[in-house]
Amino acid sequence: MKLQTRDHSLLHSFVFFFSTFISAIAGTTTISPGTALYVSNTTQSWSSPNNTFSLHFLSLLPPSFTAAIVYSGGSPAVWSAGNGATVDSAGSLRFLPSGNLVLVNGSGSTVWESGTSDMGVSSATLNENGNLVLSNATGSVWSSFDNPTDTIVPFQNFTTGMVLRSGLFSFSILRSGNLTLKWNDSVPYWDQGLNSSMSAVNLSSPVLGLQQRGVLQLFDPNLSAPIVVAYSSDYGEGTDVLRVLKLDGDGNLRAYTSKRGSGTVVSRWVALQDQCEVFGYCGDNGVCSYNGSRSDPICRCPSQNFEMVDPNDSRKGCRRKVRLEDCVGKEAMLQVHHARFLTYPPQFLINPEVFFIGISACSGNCLAAGSCFASTSLSDGSGLCYIKTTNFISGYQNPALPSTSYIKVCGPLAPNSAPPMENAGWKVHGWVVVLVVLSTLLGFLVFEGGLWLWCCRNGKGLGSFAAQYALLEYASGAPVHFSYKELQRSTKRFKEKLGDGGFGAVYKGALTNQTVVAVKQLEGIHQGEKQFRMEVSTISSTHHLNLVRLVGFCSEGHHRLLVYEFMKNGSLDKFLFVNEEQQSGKLLKWGYRFNIALGAAKGLTYLHEECRNCIVHCDVKPENILLDENYNAKVSDFGLAKLLSPVDHRHRTLTTVRGTRGYLAPEWLASLPPTSKSDVYSYGMVLLEIVSGRRNFEISDETSRRKLSIWAYDEFEKGNIMGIIDRRLVSQEINMEQVKRVLLACFWCIQELPSQRPTMSKVVQMLEGVSDIERPPAPKVNSNATPISTIATASAPTYSSSSSLIDFEASPLALEGARRT
Ligand SMILES: *[C@@H]1O[C@H](CO)[C@@H](O)[C@H](O)[C@H]1NC(C)=O
Ligand SMILES: *[C@@H]1O[C@H](CO)[C@@H](O)[C@H](O)[C@H]1NC(C)=O
Ligand SMILES: *[C@@H]1O[C@H](CO)[C@@H](O)[C@H](O)[C@H]1NC(C)=O
Ligand SMILES: *[C@@H]1O[C@H](CO)[C@@H](O)[C@H](O)[C@H]1NC(C)=O
Ligand SMILES: *[C@@H]1O[C@H](CO)[C@@H](O)[C@H](O)[C@H]1NC(C)=O
Ligand SMILES: *[C@@H]1O[C@H](CO)[C@@H](O)[C@H](O)[C@H]1NC(C)=O
Ligand SMILES: *[C@@H]1O[C@H](CO)[C@@H](O)[C@H](O)[C@H]1NC(C)=O
Ligand SMILES: *[C@@H]1O[C@H](CO)[C@@H](O)[C@H](O)[C@H]1NC(C)=O
Ligand SMILES: *[C@@H]1O[C@H](CO)[C@@H](O)[C@H](O)[C@H]1NC(C)=O
Repeated sequence: MKLQTRDHSLLHSFVFFFSTFISAIAGTTTISPGTALYVSNTTQSWSSPNNTFSLHFLSLLPPSFTAAIVYSGGSPAVWSAGNGATVDSAGSLRFLPSGNLVLVNGSGSTVWESGTSDMGVSSATLNENGNLVLSNATGSVWSSFDNPTDTIVPFQNFTTGMVLRSGLFSFSILRSGNLTLKWNDSVPYWDQGLNSSMSAVNLSSPVLGLQQRGVLQLFDPNLSAPIVVAYSSDYGEGTDVLRVLKLDGDGNLRAYTSKRGSGTVVSRWVALQDQCEVFGYCGDNGVCSYNGSRSDPICRCPSQNFEMVDPNDSRKGCRRKVRLEDCVGKEAMLQVHHARFLTYPPQFLINPEVFFIGISACSGNCLAAGSCFASTSLSDGSGLCYIKTTNFISGYQNPALPSTSYIKVCGPLAPNSAPPMENAGWKVHGWVVVLVVLSTLLGFLVFEGGLWLWCCRNGKGLGSFAAQYALLEYASGAPVHFSYKELQRSTKRFKEKLGDGGFGAVYKGALTNQTVVAVKQLEGIHQGEKQFRMEVSTISSTHHLNLVRLVGFCSEGHHRLLVYEFMKNGSLDKFLFVNEEQQSGKLLKWGYRFNIALGAAKGLTYLHEECRNCIVHCDVKPENILLDENYNAKVSDFGLAKLLSPVDHRHRTLTTVRGTRGYLAPEWLASLPPTSKSDVYSYGMVLLEIVSGRRNFEISDETSRRKLSIWAYDEFEKGNIMGIIDRRLVSQEINMEQVKRVLLACFWCIQELPSQRPTMSKVVQMLEGVSDIERPPAPKVNSNATPISTIATASAPTYSSSSSLIDFEASPLALEGARRT
């Protein structure tokens, strides 16, 4: 072996050698005992042979530092000494001559150690895969892969007995193969088992591994093939990237992708889609909720009877201003609407047999029981009432939750002023408030009176409740829960049909407040009430100028309906394609078309990249791009693919593809689950249609009987852009610069390889002309293209009916990351 002193820190040190051995055999960089890293010397690090990973001190909120192995470019950190243990500015990480690796504070105290003294450890290496290994003559004695902190990387084997930790949260894998997230090592809040058909397999030593291509797999000697647990949304894409699985400080487990050298990480999969379902996220007595459409949850106290434990950190939880011990006999039950408490054993279920225990009994029982701190009454008709007897309460409030919760407090009750709303923060004078409150009260009195009259006439007590709630909910911006009857009435018994979407027929309706709406009658929903409501709340929490807004829903018996805002100008296809049946004289000028293309791209960008529960649309096509009275594009039908696909993608066949022919990305036909890049492909086809005014799968003599996209690319290459443009536009004023940009973006979007396609945000930039667009490679004409065009020629000219859909059991995992509840 040849000794090379490479580290410039040598010059600054008197005590230790900073030397690097280049092993003749494997090319690994070896660190010898007696070496140390100092916080004070910021240029020091121990690196892997190709500098893919390096171990050095990271500066946290000064003055504290942690020794971590970080990926090239400075992030992410994949391991840290003592799982984030910190030292002061005089601290160091020392590889002692005894073979022990220790993290030492400036005061000299040992903060963390590897515990490898006197085991003959003679060297340490940081491998190219990120593993820090301490070895003696016989082999590895200790490694960071075997002692993970909060992250695992590709090539790392995560076995039973290992734990990822972050604060009070932990992640582990059970003998059964279940993956679990726990709070305080005792409360599981996420427990994902194997598919029931697999659970018959008796696993012997399951190992979880993250593949470099972005797939999370479970290996076991008793399994013939590894089981896929989850897909990153960008799986299979990118070459020089690192993928990690990390238990974050917020208690959620995520898969991240980082491009080498970039120093940035992007979340590509998350265990709990709904952050508020992480037990204890808001601390004891904290209530988790979302502020309007903002994606990050907020933590609040249940009422003014509580105060924050730490006013600077709302996640630390809340405490009662007056302790229960100090008001024995004078307790009261505070009511929190649309809220539930996350499970925490022991928890008793009261009267599961009683159909309607009633809200008052649920709170009354808890008030009477000395051991009860809180209760939750489900208002979904089941009459279930849960009683909490432990003094740690993790609350979740969401307008879509069909339950009411109670917390025992010392009176008098001081409810929070108002639920968080998007438009909060208006500056109004006191007298205005008084006036508003008074008139609201008056309004309610009148309303209640009207309701009472209505009740008496109809004799339907329960219906009135629904109507009352509906009104309140509509006012707050949350989705309204309509009864089937109400929707029947507002659509005049489903009289005026607006069209047939892929998920069911759409009817025009008018609500009692004269708002015009589009009511979609969903077909083929296999999911239960609870799942449906969760999806509805996801969809309704997605607000964007270029997305159609969900006003409300109905879930009653087998009826599942969605109520959307009404779009005056219908769908884009009506303006693009000349239809044999109805020669619609509608024509959109180029300027409008360009704005529509841009708007739709922005809507999709929001769905993919900016909203809380990222959504892959799975059915982007002109029929699903609606136009409001000013011809602004609004994407519709997002989030619905998930409603129809409860099924595991592993058992999916080619005959079960959901999406619309012509717009399906090649990878869908190759049986891979759709990702956001599949939407990009579909969107690219829409761009081509916007320019050309022709269906992308129509094969005509004009296109020399070739696929429109292939033909258009050739014409573009020949410089014949005018030949591609919709003939009806040719006599008009056209911004050729825009047309060119749209076509270039289109050809990038319809690339065969998902990784070659841009993200939607990149597409927006391309369209806006922020950056120059490179010349795209030709879209491929290959075997994959054949089935598309074959189907296309066989199809009828109009295909907006549901019959044109091939069922595609898209993987819920790949669609939106796994949301398991
Ligand atoms: C380091 O990089 C070189 C050149 O890119 C490559 O040939 C070599 O295999 C890499 N070494 C390791 C350990 O990955
Ligand atoms: C490290 O030393 C500083 C004082 O120098 C002290 O405030 C801090 O608590 C110590 N940290 C640990 C983990 O011992
Ligand atoms: C190397 O470490 C192992 C424990 O991991 C120990 O059993 C073995 O005796 C050590 N070898 C030497 C030469 O110290
Ligand atoms: C992970 O497990 C596989 C198969 O058991 C093994 O070949 C591989 O060496 C292990 N990796 C590490 C880093 O221990
Ligand atoms: C965590 O559990 C331990 C006992 O296992 C308990 O003493 C501690 O209070 C719990 N932590 C919290 C925050 O409840
Ligand atoms: C594994 O998870 C499933 C839910 O996915 C659950 O029903 C089962 O009880 C769990 N098994 C164990 C051993 O935790
Ligand atoms: C699974 O294996 C364990 C130990 O190998 C055994 O005790 C248990 O009975 C087995 N379970 C089944 C269902 O075969
Ligand atoms: C909710 O968001 C609005 C701004 O959109 C802000 O003014 C308000 O303070 C937020 N509410 C809470 C509780 O964070
Ligand atoms: C489990 O796998 C079977 C086929 O082996 C499939 O029919 C079933 O739908 C799957 N269930 C889930 C929940 O993924």
